[in-house]
Amino acid sequence: MSSPMLKVANSELELDEQGLGIRDVTENYYDSDDANAFYSNIWGGKDIHIGLYDDTQDIRTASDATIDKMADALPTVASGTRVLDIGSGYGGAMRRIAGQFGCEATCLNLSKVQNTINRHNTQVAGLTDKVRVVHGTFENIPEPNGSYDVVWSQDAILHSDQRGQVLAEVFRVLKPGGYFLFTDPCQADDVPDGVLQPVYDRLQLNSLGSFRFYRDTAEALGFDVVRQDDMLDHLRIHYDRVREDLIANYETLRKNGASTDYLDKMIVGLENWVKAADAGHLAWGIQLMRKPV
Ligand SMILES: C[S@@+](CC[C@H](N)C(=O)[O-])C[C@H]1O[C@@H](n2cnc3c(N)ncnc32)[C@H](O)[C@@H]1O
Repeated sequence: MSSPMLKVANSELELDEQGLGIRDVTENYYDSDDANAFYSNIWGGKDIHIGLYDDTQDIRTASDATIDKMADALPTVASGTRVLDIGSGYGGAMRRIAGQFGCEATCLNLSKVQNTINRHNTQVAGLTDKVRVVHGTFENIPEPNGSYDVVWSQDAILHSDQRGQVLAEVFRVLKPGGYFLFTDPCQADDVPDGVLQPVYDRLQLNSLGSFRFYRDTAEALGFDVVRQDDMLDHLRIHYDRVREDLIANYETLRKNGASTDYLDKMIVGLENWVKAADAGHLAWGIQLMRKPV
């Protein structure tokens, strides 16, 4: 198994020194003891996404608030609505909306460790008839054309080196009139060369999307862009809160399997994201696109 801090090369076709591509590196990262101990402890094995801190400083409460705000952005979500979550992590969002609205949810995710925890938590929640968990990649979604009312994604597409292909796959699996609802940590539309390298280093990325990239790519595919909300303040608060909770729970995270090397690098990595947000080099918020009827 590769080191979770393995460096990814620059081109999507390039492989790292062990012959691994970006999807192998990401899968190994999220399946590692380090990442699983960190994410499952900080978010309680439910979520790994940016929260909304209007009414709380608690990461888990804020994470639920993002899910609720996203669901509110949809004109309808009801019993029978077919929702696909791409890059679904531990599946917290799909369990929450399946429990609230009775929709039929599919969780598509690269990490087998997270999918095992997702299946367990879905069973405990009594939602196995509503939430299906599939191992796979969002660059090649293993679902038929025109089969979903909503494709949902939170803070996952940043990991792809083929974001245009991800959007094309989303367009393909949506029904006419269906919605693509997502968040993704982005760079600002215009950023000086080189300033984002410390941001990329936290997750072994080699680029980030931008609101302009998503708008232009979505429109070129035939989507109508409904909204792109600037909510960068929450990204800034979120990474600061995660850093604080990491430091406060450092020994517990160590006991649960995270290494000091991983945790120390994560503290620096989170600081770098806060600094980049303060400098206006990042962008984040709820984005909604519609496939025309
Ligand atoms: C920051 S986590 C977000 C998880 C989840 N969306 C949430 O909000 O809790 C990023 C997720 O993207 C998944 N992921 C990364 N690259 C992927 C790919 N190419 N295909 C499918 N899932 C991927 C990872 O396994 C991880 O669960």
